[in-house]
Amino acid sequence: MTIQFLGKTLKNPMVLASGILGNSKDILERVHEQGCGLVTMKSIGPEPRDGHKNPTVIDLGHGMINAVGLPSPGHLNMENEWKDLEKRDFPLIASVYGGSVSEYQRVAKFVSTKKPDFIEINISCPNSEKHGMIFGVNPQSSHEVVSAVKKVINVPLIVKLTPQALDIGQIAKICEDAGADAICAINTVGPGMVIDIESKRPVLAFKKGGLSGPMIKPVAVRCIFDIYKAVNIPIIGLGGVTTGEDAIELIMAGASLVGIGSAVRYRGIDVFGKVVKEMETWLKAHSLSIEEIKGAAHKEAL
Ligand SMILES: Cc1cc2nc3c(=O)[nH]c(=O)nc-3n(C[C@H](O)[C@H](O)[C@H](O)COP(=O)(O)O)c2cc1C
Repeated sequence: MTIQFLGKTLKNPMVLASGILGNSKDILERVHEQGCGLVTMKSIGPEPRDGHKNPTVIDLGHGMINAVGLPSPGHLNMENEWKDLEKRDFPLIASVYGGSVSEYQRVAKFVSTKKPDFIEINISCPNSEKHGMIFGVNPQSSHEVVSAVKKVINVPLIVKLTPQALDIGQIAKICEDAGADAICAINTVGPGMVIDIESKRPVLAFKKGGLSGPMIKPVAVRCIFDIYKAVNIPIIGLGGVTTGEDAIELIMAGASLVGIGSAVRYRGIDVFGKVVKEMETWLKAHSLSIEEIKGAAHKEAL
């Protein structure tokens, strides 16, 4: 099931989502060996950052709630990881975040010298200079950060969007106009909160957190559908994918590649290979190819 994506040939359309399995070459390589076409690193920030106190991730059964708080060693403190990753033989997305346009630019420029295949900017994180506002909900700041980063990197740029945007199609189009080569959607949904009624306390130490896993899939499908209508660049669709049928649904909404995050917990690190097999079985049973189903939900019903 090889697939072309921004000039690279991938062995299949599956992508490891950012933040799920860290940044060490050994684990990312294992994910690739277990059937994942393209792997994403955990988001890398400008400074060392501890993240939030535990508990940071809770499994709710129908999905997860997390407030990890973007822990990062900082882009300048990853020499060992970069050294290992430069010798990899699998395609890699490096994910970057910042608190201001200039921080995004600084980190992305540095990361670009480490030769990932793609750079993804996570403009869905809530610790910007603008008092906790997420870059990706604001058309102007989305345009500013994408065009600033695009100027200083020499690999294709992917922009990761938040479902909290009022009009995610509009934000995606703005990012395309500013120079994005692809869109990744969605980041976690929320924030939400879960209270343990026996202790009468929120279950997360940070109290609020982002939702992921099966419960967010309908939000992801709607966002991908809206983005596909608005842009001409490819979409990495993710949010709630656990099975091959889920992946096919996101492709019908308009995704070119399909990411998996929470389902690594539900089905194991070999979830990627399992999902590819399930997709192949479904496509064969319906005598269809991936190309034929891409964006199929946009066509008028017969
Ligand atoms: C524990 C955890 C940590 C995450 N960390 C990041 C991160 O560092 N950067 C990022 O862009 N997204 C991060 N995400 C969001 C995922 O990449 C993904 O967009 C989201 O979980 C939806 O996909 P899923 O339903 O398959 O998990 C994280 C998600 C989880 C559950």
